[in-house]
Amino acid sequence: MRRSTTVSTIFTDELIDRSPIHVPAGVYPPQEDSALLVDALRTSGRAAGSRIADLCSGSGVVALAAAEQGAASVAAFEMSPVAVSCARRNAAATGLDVKVHRGSWTRAVEFEAFDVVTCNPPYVPFDDGADEAVVPDEAGPATAWNAGRDGRRILDPLCERAPEMLVDGGTIFIVHSEFADVDRTVDGLRAAGLRAQVVAQRWIPFGPVLTARAQWLERIGLLEVGRRRERLAVIRGDRS
Ligand SMILES: C[S@@+](CC[C@H](N)C(=O)[O-])C[C@H]1O[C@@H](n2cnc3c(N)ncnc32)[C@H](O)[C@@H]1O
Repeated sequence: MRRSTTVSTIFTDELIDRSPIHVPAGVYPPQEDSALLVDALRTSGRAAGSRIADLCSGSGVVALAAAEQGAASVAAFEMSPVAVSCARRNAAATGLDVKVHRGSWTRAVEFEAFDVVTCNPPYVPFDDGADEAVVPDEAGPATAWNAGRDGRRILDPLCERAPEMLVDGGTIFIVHSEFADVDRTVDGLRAAGLRAQVVAQRWIPFGPVLTARAQWLERIGLLEVGRRRERLAVIRGDRS
């Protein structure tokens, strides 16, 4: 069942607060990374008629946008039970056809290969003692962003396994911050046999997580002292 809604058309940076989806406490609220990924998918024109998997789907915002952009089917994969319930409720409320699977993103390889895969994974570098200040609850759960000391806990295996999830001619879109090393994602996808490039990027002011972590990032040399802006990028990989 599909009903006309405004998930992706309204879900632009300046209108994030007016997104029609509901996000309870304990679920990652759609942010600039989510919006950049939705925009990249829309700009590519790859959603219409495609079988799509959205990995690390959180509230379901990207999966719902993919459905709204005309996907033939959308399967979402998410580890957090609270987020799974949230995404299912949002799918029901918007009337968009998204099937939400509870579990690791790696479950996607158990399905028939997809035409398009999208992913906004946890990607913020983290180590003991990283947070200088308390991160406010509104930022969502730590499991939505913490991704090991180099931020690549999911990104590295995702690059390796991307070809398994894609049909010939299939495309993966991954969004993350400069602090998790954008070039390494491009190189990782290429090493796995895909054509890969950055297709969208945006500079944004630090949100609450990076604000709390800025001094640690400065100490480990990932951030110039005093800078409080980060570059987000969407990396596209094509299996040809
Ligand atoms: C940065 S949030 C992105 C949420 C949503 N896709 C968006 O763009 O707003 C990352 C999400 O990945 C989920 N997650 C973390 N580890 C995961 C894993 N191994 N498999 C599946 N989901 C995971 C978190 O619970 C969180 O909802």
